Amino acid sequence: MGRVILRRSRLIPIMNASQIEPTDRQISTQLILEVRNVVAGYVEGVDILQGANLSVYEGELVTVIGSNGAGKSTLAKAIFGLVPVRSGEILFGERNLIGLKPEQIVRQGISYVPQVANVFPSLSVSDNLDMGAYTRDGNIKELKDKTYEIFPVLAKRRNQRAGTLSGGERQMLAMGRALMLEPRLLILDEPSAALSPILVQDIFNLIQQINRTGTSIILVEQNARKALAIADRGYVMHLGKDEFTGKGTDLLNNPEVAELYLGMGNFCKPSKDIS
Ligand SMILES: Nc1ncnc2c1ncn2[C@@H]1O[C@H](COP(=O)(O)OP(=O)(O)OP(=O)(O)O)[C@@H](O)[C@H]1O
Ligand SMILES: [Mg+2]
Repeated sequence: MGRVILRRSRLIPIMNASQIEPTDRQISTQLILEVRNVVAGYVEGVDILQGANLSVYEGELVTVIGSNGAGKSTLAKAIFGLVPVRSGEILFGERNLIGLKPEQIVRQGISYVPQVANVFPSLSVSDNLDMGAYTRDGNIKELKDKTYEIFPVLAKRRNQRAGTLSGGERQMLAMGRALMLEPRLLILDEPSAALSPILVQDIFNLIQQINRTGTSIILVEQNARKALAIADRGYVMHLGKDEFTGKGTDLLNNPEVAELYLGMGNFCKPSKDIS
């Protein structure tokens, strides 16, 4: 078997997403999302993403891990039109997403659950789900019932204000809200943050369950070991770039990735220069 971990710095010219093979699982060979060499940032003159690449095949579960401040959330936001992109390409199918507003991107079939402030605290669970479906026409009852089936706890709490939910329930509501759009691609930014180990496992099981229904997923995670264990492929970000990529299990077993990014849950920036 050939070397499957791709280290960006060893790939010249820069790795093209179409050269990466999808995993053995029943994944389509069709690329649904292709982020190529994206440079982006919040403030003029400061690039946070410095040539980031990421690809997702239809049906894939792809995780993005890396140190605090590596640019994981910025990458998620750039895909969703929330950060100005200065150069590069973001293709969703045939469509270039750069320059589109989030509400236009939602209509293309992408849902995004941000790291923070991902529900409306003063609205009920039920109203939050309705808000999730705001771009859809017609009767959303069926969709809502389906969401309650996936997250039974939300059905129990349907009339409760979102602000009174526990951390895990709130995260489930945020995911449920995103699913109300029946997205082709779901972007989750740290859904397991600040949850107890049991709840983390519940959330990861739900993510796998959602993925098995055919929804492609980008999972940004601090909980790197768990994320790599369930992901088809993973990307390790460092200083605004994809430093490593490969199958989830291969990255998990890669000594360099393990030493720098999987050590004892310590996610401080590595002091060792890995370029
Ligand atoms: N709204 C913003 N305005 C200006 N700079 C920002 C903004 N959000 C993030 N940054 C900066 O961009 C860099 C990358 O941040 P980002 O949130 O993408 O990292 P991350 O990998 O998601 O980190 P974490 O693991 O802590 O969530 C950081 O230096 C951060 O300070
Ligand atoms: Mg983040």
